[in-house]
Amino acid sequence: PAAKSLFGLDELEEKIRSTYGLSKVIVVPGDCETSPFTKRELGRAGSKALLGVLRPDDIVAVTGGSTLAEMADQLTTLLPLSYKNAWFVPARGGLGESMEIQANTIASTMAKRVGANYRLLHVPDLLSEDAYQSLALDSNIGEIVNIIRSSRIIVHGIGEAFEMTRRRKLDESTVSEIQGEGAVAESFGYYFNEDGKIVHTMLRMGMRLEDIMRTEVVIGIAGGKGKATAIHAMLRFGQENILVTDEAAAQEIGRRI
Ligand code: F6P
Repeated sequence: PAAKSLFGLDELEEKIRSTYGLSKVIVVPGDCETSPFTKRELGRAGSKALLGVLRPDDIVAVTGGSTLAEMADQLTTLLPLSYKNAWFVPARGGLGESMEIQANTIASTMAKRVGANYRLLHVPDLLSEDAYQSLALDSNIGEIVNIIRSSRIIVHGIGEAFEMTRRRKLDESTVSEIQGEGAVAESFGYYFNEDGKIVHTMLRMGMRLEDIMRTEVVIGIAGGKGKATAIHAMLRFGQENILVTDEAAAQEIGRRI
């Protein structure tokens, strides 16, 4: 806290918090785009934020990404036994990412680190409408999807739209479609414009928009100057309760409000 007031970060936290009606904003010093140390601190702050709201029998849905992977590595509790009835699940099905940053991997790592349980969703990336419909009828998949949809907490990463289209190796025409729609942010497989409106949706199993909207605690974790526009769009989307970010992104967001 002392270091934060030195940097003026607590004022920035309050400015963002009150502008968007969030319950909490945490800003760590630095820029995680250029500093691995800041990225680690972002992960640590994210894990603290989660433990601050986690109840013994919660279901927690998590997305993928390098920020969430860092958070999973930082998650520690002195009381692992108290979470033996909690569950971690991926928020949505495969997002075509490398193993280390997939939501399934992150859900299982987090669960192990706090002594909780996990269920995974093994569905391929980029489902066709037909494949989606038949997978949805599978009873095992249906069961896990129902668990995912009943999560009380979501922890999610936020990405810059164009970068995410590249990371997911989307084909040229889809990339230009998404760009044409004015997307600046990506989260949960949804692409958002600057006003926080969904402009493009990927067909995925798991959490749907209506599930996100009724989830009690939504925690967004993202930092870096280059993500400021994306994070700002997600704040405008209006479903965030807790935002964990870094100084570089928060300064930029602060300038816009
Ligand atoms: O692909 C999963 C995901 O959470 C995306 O929804 C998000 O845009 C991205 O990862 C964030 O990734 P990173 O933390 O590596 O920037």
